[in-house]
Amino acid sequence: MGLGGSWDSSPVTNAEVSQGLEALDTAVEAGFRDIDLADIYTAGKSETVVGRWLKENPGLRDRVRLQTKAGIRLPGNTAPAGSPVHYRLDETALRGGLEGSLERLGVDSVDRFLVHRWDPLADPAEVAAVLDGLIDDGLTQGVGISNVSWHRIRVLQRHLQHPVQAIQSQLSLGHRDFVERQILWDHPEATEVDFSEELLDECAASGVELQAWGSLDRGRYTRPPGEGPDAATATLVHRLADELGCSPEAVVLAWLMRLPQGIRPVIGTTNPARIRACAQADAVVSRMTHEHWYSLLNSARGHDVP
Ligand SMILES: NC(=O)c1ccc[n+]([C@@H]2O[C@H](COP(=O)([O-])OP(=O)(O)OC[C@H]3O[C@@H](n4cnc5c(N)ncnc54)[C@H](OP(=O)(O)O)[C@@H]3O)[C@@H](O)[C@H]2O)c1
Repeated sequence: MGLGGSWDSSPVTNAEVSQGLEALDTAVEAGFRDIDLADIYTAGKSETVVGRWLKENPGLRDRVRLQTKAGIRLPGNTAPAGSPVHYRLDETALRGGLEGSLERLGVDSVDRFLVHRWDPLADPAEVAAVLDGLIDDGLTQGVGISNVSWHRIRVLQRHLQHPVQAIQSQLSLGHRDFVERQILWDHPEATEVDFSEELLDECAASGVELQAWGSLDRGRYTRPPGEGPDAATATLVHRLADELGCSPEAVVLAWLMRLPQGIRPVIGTTNPARIRACAQADAVVSRMTHEHWYSLLNSARGHDVP
């Protein structure tokens, strides 16, 4: 999401391209293979940078999976300046969005295309027909949807010929309703939690990949501990990183990956050192004990689970 500089309509600079190419090279060297994009990210410049990277590295296209999204209309980006922020999932918005992405990426198809956010004005049968058409026409190998409940997926799937392959949702130590809900069922504190509990288990049971955006909480717990409400959790994250012999980023990512549903964090850093730090998470998951996991949960929520 950060590749290519600013989110305005200014052209991408050579420095921003170089920084993006370095981030992408670092990610592949560190073992990452999935690239998550959207037509709105840096107003298309992130896809332009990835397109440059693929062009300069023939053969890489077969080694990475490309995922992009459309459906969010931002003024001065995917919508004319002056229009309100809105969502749109008709043929023009989704097919047009994907075709723009393919052009910027310089490829004939992506591996996954996601509806970025649901539009209450959309007819699920029409959205499904558009998505099926994109697969049938070879523009994407599969489809998914972002920021929705399991109910919304079920409704969409009822009309789709092809399976929903992936869901992307905000899941992290700081954004943890999906865990709270499992613990607080029938408890007074549960009234503060509104995450649809079934999403995790239904995805796992149906073979739908569950991707977590915002998984680093934008550095909230991995920055050097300072003052303020997150200081205790950041201190704990750093202490566990020392104990487990890994980076703080690996601790917060492993906290998510330790859950049995196979959550796949989507990581937004473009900093090469941080990309390498995140890559350590895989090795930490099996060493994160119940005590580690609950101490992080209790610290982030500010008081122990009941
Ligand atoms: N489906 C959706 O609606 C949706 C919404 C948002 C994001 N996404 C996807 O999910 C990805 C990750 O989301 P995200 O970028 O919001 O969340 P993130 O991965 O939690 O945060 C990444 C951001 O936090 C900064 N950061 C991380 N650790 C830091 C630290 N220790 N100190 C200072 N800055 C730090 C990074 O800066 P540096 O680059 O300097 O490291 C970067 O700007 C995005 O790239 C995008 O692909 C999807």
